[in-house]
Amino acid sequence: MAQFNLKEAGELLAQELEKRAYGDAPENLYAPLRYILSLGGKRLRPALTLLGCYLFDDDYKKAVEPAIGVEVFHNFTLMHDDIMDDAPLRRGQMTVHEKWNPNIAILSGDVMFVKAYDYIMQVEDNVLRSAISLFNKCATEVCEGQQFDMDFEERAIVSEEEYIEMIRLKTAVLIGFALRLGALIGGASEEQSKVVEEFGVNVGLGFQLKDDILDVYADQDKFGKQVGGDIISNKKTLMLIKALKQAKGADKAELLKWLEVKEFDKVEKVKAVTAIYDRLDIKEMATSKSNEYFDKGFTALQKLDVPDNRKQLLKEFGIYLQNRDH
Ligand code: IPE
Ligand code: IPE
Ligand code: MG
Ligand code: MG
Ligand code: MG
Repeated sequence: MAQFNLKEAGELLAQELEKRAYGDAPENLYAPLRYILSLGGKRLRPALTLLGCYLFDDDYKKAVEPAIGVEVFHNFTLMHDDIMDDAPLRRGQMTVHEKWNPNIAILSGDVMFVKAYDYIMQVEDNVLRSAISLFNKCATEVCEGQQFDMDFEERAIVSEEEYIEMIRLKTAVLIGFALRLGALIGGASEEQSKVVEEFGVNVGLGFQLKDDILDVYADQDKFGKQVGGDIISNKKTLMLIKALKQAKGADKAELLKWLEVKEFDKVEKVKAVTAIYDRLDIKEMATSKSNEYFDKGFTALQKLDVPDNRKQLLKEFGIYLQNRDH
């Protein structure tokens, strides 16, 4: 059996995602689904499902169908997230609710959630119940995280602990699930599959912290999303939470003004808030917090009872996510 190769796994997933029929009519239900999937993205979650399986079984291809389910689910969450975040751009192209309209994005997203089950169900009978039950828990938690995220936009004070719990729910649990599902399919014990999930959740926390940093500091062309979107909508990222705590005098007054003002020039707000972050070294603080979680994930790997070269694949994947620029 060939060694697991990340590039090959990515190509395999791209082909498989492309091959699926999904559905034809009505066009307005299925075209947005095909559109968002065709925009690609990093496809890290399905790759993690394959990798999670490969840790315990050479035949990682048996995880392809469920891996597709994970990616379809992820894309569904993005389609709805873009409505909630009023986002104009996704992967360098128009978001579905802007290209079509919000109702179409809601319904196309709904059918994607159903399709995700169809794919995730394609596992052996002895792991089916666990797979669905873990998926249900994960999907419920993503909804909880998304609601906290929106509630926090309206709240003046959010603690660091509340932020971490919110990103654990909205982002990290899906990365943990993607890996654990793969491990389950690969025949891991309950205990070992939990270790794989623990790695995924910690890497997922680091990943969302990094996403928040990129939202402010990424190169617009590479990022593919609207840089500054989180600042525009008063997202209580760790950066904003820390800035609110640390800013003094004129900076503090200016930050509070930007959080309250209803009518504003978006470019001006993003520029002003970023300048305050810069004066407070917020990017450095957030980067070191993000790295802390990646390291916690890497430490969890020590408890993993698989050959070192397979563990190393997971670590390398984590390092790639840690260093990404989009
Ligand atoms: C975006 O996820 C949503 C977050 C949890 C930050 P990705 O950054 O994995 O998006 P794609 O799939 O590569 O576009
Ligand atoms: C995404 O968080 C979490 C989910 C989609 C569930 P963000 O709102 O930060 O994701 P992006 O930045 O739009 O990709
Ligand atoms: Mg969001
Ligand atoms: Mg968003
Ligand atoms: Mg984001």
